[in-house]
Amino acid sequence: MKFFVDTAEIDQIRELNDLGMVDGVTTNPSLIAKSGRDIFEVTAEICALVQGPVSAEVVSLGADDMIAEGRKLAAIAPNIAVKVPLTWDGLRACKVLSDEGRMVNVTLCFSANQAILAAKAGATFISPFIGRLDDINIDGLQLIADIRQIYDNYGYETQILAASIRTANHMSECAKIGADVATAPASVIKAMASHVLTDKGLAGFMADIAKAGIRIL
Ligand code: E4P
Repeated sequence: MKFFVDTAEIDQIRELNDLGMVDGVTTNPSLIAKSGRDIFEVTAEICALVQGPVSAEVVSLGADDMIAEGRKLAAIAPNIAVKVPLTWDGLRACKVLSDEGRMVNVTLCFSANQAILAAKAGATFISPFIGRLDDINIDGLQLIADIRQIYDNYGYETQILAASIRTANHMSECAKIGADVATAPASVIKAMASHVLTDKGLAGFMADIAKAGIRIL
């Protein structure tokens, strides 16, 4: 499973990228606003830092404007994936932009039916939002499993990009289901390294190291 980091904060991307943990980046208008930076400036910086796809989202609601914005965003760098919302206009924009050979990430997906439409419109990525479904007591991981089954049934090439990930558990469950990509905040990716028994075991080793005066350097 590929890891995308879900942020527009350069320092967070750089830290994980240096460890080989970043296969791509996703941003959205809320993350760009949170960064306080100009969308073109920060997106160009991310694209220069990371080799894989960098999702940059359109801000209009009509298909024609989304297409124009998508072309402008795609001109930032060859690794831009234009992000469009899963609306009828977004699907129209997806079809045009993907026919032009651009990567398109269809976002705000909350149902299997929406995911089928995105695949038929030529999406490179479909972004089902796990956490926001969990928030309303609908099983977000089940949606990932349903889309996996449907895409495999028909050989759709659209990659499942599990989004709105809130916990380290979401990451391993997505990997078990077979999501192609999971995008998560840097804090969630770092939390994957934590285990209470690792902490407990290390504390025991450190106590014995101190008692025995073991030194290597
Ligand atoms: C990524 O593409 C999505 O925009 C993001 O994962 C949404 O996450 P949130 O539901 O935590 O805002």
